[in-house]
Amino acid sequence: MRQPLVAGNWKLNGSLESVSALVSGIRAQMSIVRDTEVAVCPPFIYLQHVRQLLKGSEISLGAQDCSDQAEGAYTGEVSASMIREFGCTYVIVGHSERRHIYGESDAFVAAKFAQVRDNNLIPILCVGETLEEREQEQTEAVIARQLDAVLKHSGIGAFGNAIIAYEPVWAIGTGKTATPGQAQQVHAFVRSRLKEQDERVSGLIRILYGGSMKPENAGALMQEEDIDGGLIGGASLKAEDFIAITTA
Ligand code: PGA
Repeated sequence: MRQPLVAGNWKLNGSLESVSALVSGIRAQMSIVRDTEVAVCPPFIYLQHVRQLLKGSEISLGAQDCSDQAEGAYTGEVSASMIREFGCTYVIVGHSERRHIYGESDAFVAAKFAQVRDNNLIPILCVGETLEEREQEQTEAVIARQLDAVLKHSGIGAFGNAIIAYEPVWAIGTGKTATPGQAQQVHAFVRSRLKEQDERVSGLIRILYGGSMKPENAGALMQEEDIDGGLIGGASLKAEDFIAITTA
């Protein structure tokens, strides 16, 4: 069975003070979380601090991105091996904000995914269509293209220890959530695409939903057969909301 995972993507938010308060708020409520894995993904600069604050808890740590390169003259980059040194389990790659604001291509995301896997970390590969692509009925074509770039680069075997997050771009930070039916349809498509190459991998891989997930809609989304948890942005910045999603 697939254990649900709820991961908080803090994006470019926080300060030493607010991050500390958020972690202690989450830790204080962890006793009500059952059978669900919880992870937080702070900005790089806070990874070490949050790692210390998480000591002795069951909460996993993740990074929001990593370099496509292993090392060398790449100013401003952070490698997967560095992230690994700081006790991370997960690394988000291909978030739509990286793809659309910073122009990351499918091939670039695939190189990052490979770096994460090469360093024995677990990638959370984000895929998702824009509103325009959905209106043009391109949703499945876009998701297939994003997945295929990674499959071509790393092979289906690399998905044996990976997570996929379906995040419709039109739902991220907009307050508009995909309906459980809309999300389930895409999640099932992702699973079927992987199943064409490896039935076992497709059955085991966890596929998270992300995009304005909040306590009020999390329960209905998570009830869908192919939705195995959530990647939470805005609502992960409030301990009560984040925990309420986790227990939904
Ligand atoms: P949101 O962000 O929950 O604020 O919509 C989700 C994400 O971008 O991962």
